[in-house]
Amino acid sequence: MAAAWNPLGPLFRQNVTRRRGLATTSRQACGMYLAVGAPMLGHRGVIVGRERYAGKAFIYDPFLLYSEESRVRLPAPHMLVLGKSGYGKSAMVKTYVLRQLSYRDRSFVVLDAQGEGLAGEWQEIADALDVIPIRLTYGGVHDGGIRINPLDPEIPLAHQQDLLTSMVEIVAGEVLTSDAKFAIEVALNAARRAAADRRRVPVLSDVLAAITDPQPAMLGQRECASSELREWGMPAGFALHALTSGNLAGLFDGETVSGTAGTSIDLTGRLVIFDMARLPREGEALPLFMAVIGAWLRFGWIDPASTTKYTLVIEEAWHILAHRPVARLFNEFMRFGRRLGLSVIAVAHHLSDLRLDEVPEAVSIIKLSATRVVYHIEGDDADTVADYLELPAWAREAIKDPANLAAPGNGIWSFSGLTLLVQHLRTPAETALTNTNKRMSDGPAASPDAPSAAPSAGRPAGPRTGPADEPTGGPAAAATCEGER
Ligand SMILES: Nc1ncnc2c1ncn2[C@@H]1O[C@H](COP(=O)(O)OP(=O)(O)OP(=O)(O)O)[C@@H](O)[C@H]1O
Ligand SMILES: [Mg+2]
Repeated sequence: MAAAWNPLGPLFRQNVTRRRGLATTSRQACGMYLAVGAPMLGHRGVIVGRERYAGKAFIYDPFLLYSEESRVRLPAPHMLVLGKSGYGKSAMVKTYVLRQLSYRDRSFVVLDAQGEGLAGEWQEIADALDVIPIRLTYGGVHDGGIRINPLDPEIPLAHQQDLLTSMVEIVAGEVLTSDAKFAIEVALNAARRAAADRRRVPVLSDVLAAITDPQPAMLGQRECASSELREWGMPAGFALHALTSGNLAGLFDGETVSGTAGTSIDLTGRLVIFDMARLPREGEALPLFMAVIGAWLRFGWIDPASTTKYTLVIEEAWHILAHRPVARLFNEFMRFGRRLGLSVIAVAHHLSDLRLDEVPEAVSIIKLSATRVVYHIEGDDADTVADYLELPAWAREAIKDPANLAAPGNGIWSFSGLTLLVQHLRTPAETALTNTNKRMSDGPAASPDAPSAAPSAGRPAGPRTGPADEPTGGPAAAATCEGER
């Protein structure tokens, strides 16, 4: 932009470009400033950052990229985000959620498995948006956490058995044989009858009681004796024992409750955060919760009849990629994504830890993730990821360059035949909310006075006054981003 003309001439020469603030909508801004969006992706949606090579704003919205008008069409709405620790994966996903909350028809669930101390790393965002995270702890409801009953009526009967089998397989660490699965089926039916007699919902200890003391049952025309069923059900019995006692006791065995208030889990907010930071990253608790929450969300959160677009963010997604039973459940969930209006964002470090040849469902999940975002990855791991995701040679080299092309905040975006190097840009308020280096840095912690970063996401959802696909403001609309100053 040229310097403004100054009538007083050289005496008061203005040698700095004068910029005046201008209030406008994102739609008008596109008309006035044509460089705002890469033409091939369209101008609708919120900005992620800037394409490093073209210099253009990078706008990405999986739901809008599904529309007929979009020149680039996504084959599936899911995203896989990979990269070494500390390069900005979570920051990008957090601002993605914050910015998309500007759309009134968007709903988000976050499985937050990382954090400092007792709270997950989405806590600051939760505080800023007046959202109370749902905590998952070993003590369950006795420790301010929740309990989710995998046999809750919220989950259809047909899916309860799959879920139960998956949970048993996670604990047993092996795929169940068909006779063990049959023993579970018989025990589950017996548990349902026993619970109905007592006018309550069935719980895991009912299944444990039934599987260890089975009644004869028919397998087609063949009567299976109690002794046979007891033997077949033994591996599942041990797993159910582990699920209903010890560390896991408070988590799944009993009616579903959220916190000490004894209420059921409320999934009506536009941003729901499951805080899993108190659970150990190793062990069975996290994959078990992911499996149960996956089923719970599918039937209790998503309303296929509504126009809402749902996004599920899974931090530490290797729990779904590495555990075959969880991968199986999520694979099915994600395959229905298009029909449910669901986009799943899975965040993980790299692929080399995973034995993808042994977990075909994880391979399918990666294939369903039609958008791949890759942050810095080192050496051999980078080659593994580049080979697997079929990144072009320049992108393979870019992700190995932590000092420049893959410095924190820079990632390769690959979807629908496009491969772009994108610098994720944050507003000052977003920077404060997404800084996970605070504990390591010498400077003062982010100011609690930082401007409120996003529209309200707490319950209930705000009044719906404008068109569903028009942003209403928030950090994206007010973007004065780092890197642009
Ligand atoms: N867009 C960005 N531009 C500049 N720096 C960034 C950007 N995004 C994140 N960072 C810096 O990187 C740090 C780490 O970010 P973040 O927590 O998102 O990393 P991560 O990849 O999720 O790490 P982990 O795998 O350990 O969870 C942030 O605290 C911030 O200082
Ligand atoms: Mg992270």
